[in-house]
Amino acid sequence: MRAAVVNAFDAPPQYGEYPGPVARGEHEMVVEVLAAGLHQLVRARANGTHYSSTGTFPLVPGVDGVVRDQESNLRYAVLDDGPLGMFAEQAVIDVRRSVPLPNDVDPVRIAAAMNPAMSSWLALRRRITFEKGQSVLILGATGSSGRMAVQIAKRFGADRVVAAGRNASRLAALHELGADETVTFEQADRAADVDVVLDYVWGEPSAVAMTALVKARRDRGAPLHWIQIGSIAGQTSPVHSAVLRAARLQICGSGVGSVSPREILEELPDIAEAVHAGELDVRARPVPLAQVAEAWSAQTDDRIVFVP
Ligand SMILES: NC(=O)c1ccc[n+]([C@@H]2O[C@H](COP(=O)([O-])OP(=O)(O)OC[C@H]3O[C@@H](n4cnc5c(N)ncnc54)[C@H](OP(=O)(O)O)[C@@H]3O)[C@@H](O)[C@H]2O)c1
Repeated sequence: MRAAVVNAFDAPPQYGEYPGPVARGEHEMVVEVLAAGLHQLVRARANGTHYSSTGTFPLVPGVDGVVRDQESNLRYAVLDDGPLGMFAEQAVIDVRRSVPLPNDVDPVRIAAAMNPAMSSWLALRRRITFEKGQSVLILGATGSSGRMAVQIAKRFGADRVVAAGRNASRLAALHELGADETVTFEQADRAADVDVVLDYVWGEPSAVAMTALVKARRDRGAPLHWIQIGSIAGQTSPVHSAVLRAARLQICGSGVGSVSPREILEELPDIAEAVHAGELDVRARPVPLAQVAEAWSAQTDDRIVFVP
């Protein structure tokens, strides 16, 4: 079958031939892939920078997507860490790691939105007890996941959402999605009294924001939940030890591992429903899978979705 094939961590995938998939386990099924998103996680696994990279080549990237099963029903499926991902004409899914979709869904929209939407949805639902009326600061709010986080925090009843980033014009556009305020990382002190931080950047910007925020916090005994979700600005962050002592700061992470597969699966139908119903603004760009090598490093505000 035709697929995107990675042969080394330092080279983009090439469109070529890959052996057709075979279902082995009791719950496995060969499916037709309709749409699969080029998420940061996909790039990071293929270039070896993600903690779940296996280093096994050849590798077909793609961690999730919309598929047609053998009964012609549509499903959203998440794959395990194996070498055959979704950037192919066919894939093998574990039916237990998939959710049925209505037959009138837009596969590209679902494939674009599920991974970015899941990031804040799971963090707020499964890593803390988020309550209506709480306030949220989003670090790295201008990306696909941050844009979703603005909308999802509001959906879950956030009273105040502050969007932080480095690009003023992209930040300004977040007001129409529900952001109450926008700030640079250095201006995080303006959100000093938030209850929750959703952190997509880590690295230097997070450390800068954490120090500014803690210093300016009026009630340092009030709980501050800092949820580490992405590391687009650096895998490590020079967090000053004082911030951990000077405020009631609790840092945790949210991702595959810290949220169990069962918990993820329990949330997927509601996320898919919200996306399908048009309740979340989604920016998606369908691209033929044959153009994977060119599209791999493209700079775009839209989430690229490969269509075999
Ligand atoms: N744990 C999870 O469940 C989960 C799920 C989804 C995503 N993530 C992670 O979250 C992160 C963001 O993902 P995404 O889907 O939003 O990616 P994306 O759509 O490609 O957006 C990238 C974002 O990162 C910002 N950025 C890039 N380099 C930066 C830097 N050096 N300093 C500050 N900001 C920088 C960009 O800001 P500009 O607008 O200024 O360019 C943009 O807002 C990634 O690390 C991804 O792996 C985690």
